[in-house]
Amino acid sequence: MLWTDTKLGSIAVEGKTLGTDEWTNTPSSILSAISRRLHLQKDHPLSITRQLIESCFPGFKCHNSLSPVVSVQQNFDSLGFPPDHPGRRPSDTYYINRNTVLRTHTSAHQADTFRANQSDGYLITADVYRRDAVDRSHYPVFHQMEGARTWDRTRVNSVRLAQVINDDIARMPTHDISVLDPNPTIDPEHNPRQMQHSVEETELMTMHLKRSLENLIVKIFDKARKAAMASGDTDPYFQEPLKVRWVQAYFPFTSPSWELEVFWGGDWLEMLGCGIVKQELLNNAGVPERIGWAFGLGLERIAMLLFSIPDIRLFWSQDPRFLSQFRAAHSKGHPEDTTITRFSPFSKHPACYKDVAFWIPKTSSSAGGNVGANTQDFHENDVMELVRDIAGAKVEEVRLVDTFVHPTSGRKSLCYRINYRSLERTLTNQESNELHEKIRAALVERLGVQIR
Ligand code: PHE
Repeated sequence: MLWTDTKLGSIAVEGKTLGTDEWTNTPSSILSAISRRLHLQKDHPLSITRQLIESCFPGFKCHNSLSPVVSVQQNFDSLGFPPDHPGRRPSDTYYINRNTVLRTHTSAHQADTFRANQSDGYLITADVYRRDAVDRSHYPVFHQMEGARTWDRTRVNSVRLAQVINDDIARMPTHDISVLDPNPTIDPEHNPRQMQHSVEETELMTMHLKRSLENLIVKIFDKARKAAMASGDTDPYFQEPLKVRWVQAYFPFTSPSWELEVFWGGDWLEMLGCGIVKQELLNNAGVPERIGWAFGLGLERIAMLLFSIPDIRLFWSQDPRFLSQFRAAHSKGHPEDTTITRFSPFSKHPACYKDVAFWIPKTSSSAGGNVGANTQDFHENDVMELVRDIAGAKVEEVRLVDTFVHPTSGRKSLCYRINYRSLERTLTNQESNELHEKIRAALVERLGVQIR
């Protein structure tokens, strides 16, 4: 697949000019999001959510302006992602060129931040980029928050280190929510301890990690519950005590690893990933004496629950009817004092859907040779991105509604339903027709499909 941008030979981003190559797959519509910095915009719900979470980690150093342009080494290699990990595929990741990507997660900065070794604890909030589906909860640019806490083993002997972590745990606030945690901390087969860490160190760091994150969830969901009640929502689940559960997980850069889920609105929702940082990562970052934990969470996900925001596109809205609804605590106040108010939707504008069906080109892989983002076979995310590129936030959802394989020729046809709806106004029929026409033409031109 060829992107016209790549023919220019270079991309200007964040004041730097970077050469393009056959891996380049980042369209200008994505590059233009980099300067928005929603997590730093005063009174923006993402910024309010960030400050609320920061207030749960006193003493942690906060990094909020790290550039999204990182090396493949930073985003994947330094974290131990194997060479064939699906996250590296150009169908999932935005490449500036073969060696440079837009970070797909805030963990891209772990190694550098550990190397700088400026504080025992740190938080990183940043925009991250992933090629993905188009619907109400996915947007190719979103925000993550990463946190880590490490201890220096050489300052004390191992017996004393256990005491230090124990004392740190004793100083933390307690909570009274119900926590389901059915698995042992160390499960040699599914969630092993690292051989460089003793059982006691692993147990204590895990206890510190879990308590820190449970406290975070308690704070956020207490706010969300208050906001719901204040808005007159009488759903019975707001009255029930909060329930969370720990689920075993896998990340290439932590072990053991978990996800934390919250029971909210009748469902278990995954809130964050975390674990004990791989010692190899810390060793490679020049701090072999440190051991500790890390977590990562998606800010939109939390902000959508907290403020009851129904569509992820709203975060990008510049409409005062959206932005004026949110207020951070007064500058002298503490973020914890912020009262969360639920979003009240301005009128919902009518949707209009249109289908497009096409034959996809025969796979080119048999031809061999070229690899790189521009020469990959057809991938659904290419359709998603093309629609974003042309219709932007005027599309609410793109959904595959039919697949058909021709019985004799073996050719495959797909039918996508595109839901056109602006959050800000009613689209005219002519407008959505024109957008749909442009999309059909671009599918042929850029992806080489044949419209049915
Ligand atoms: N980076 C992981 C993600 O994007 C989350 C994570 C961060 C997990 C830190 C463990 C430790 O899913």
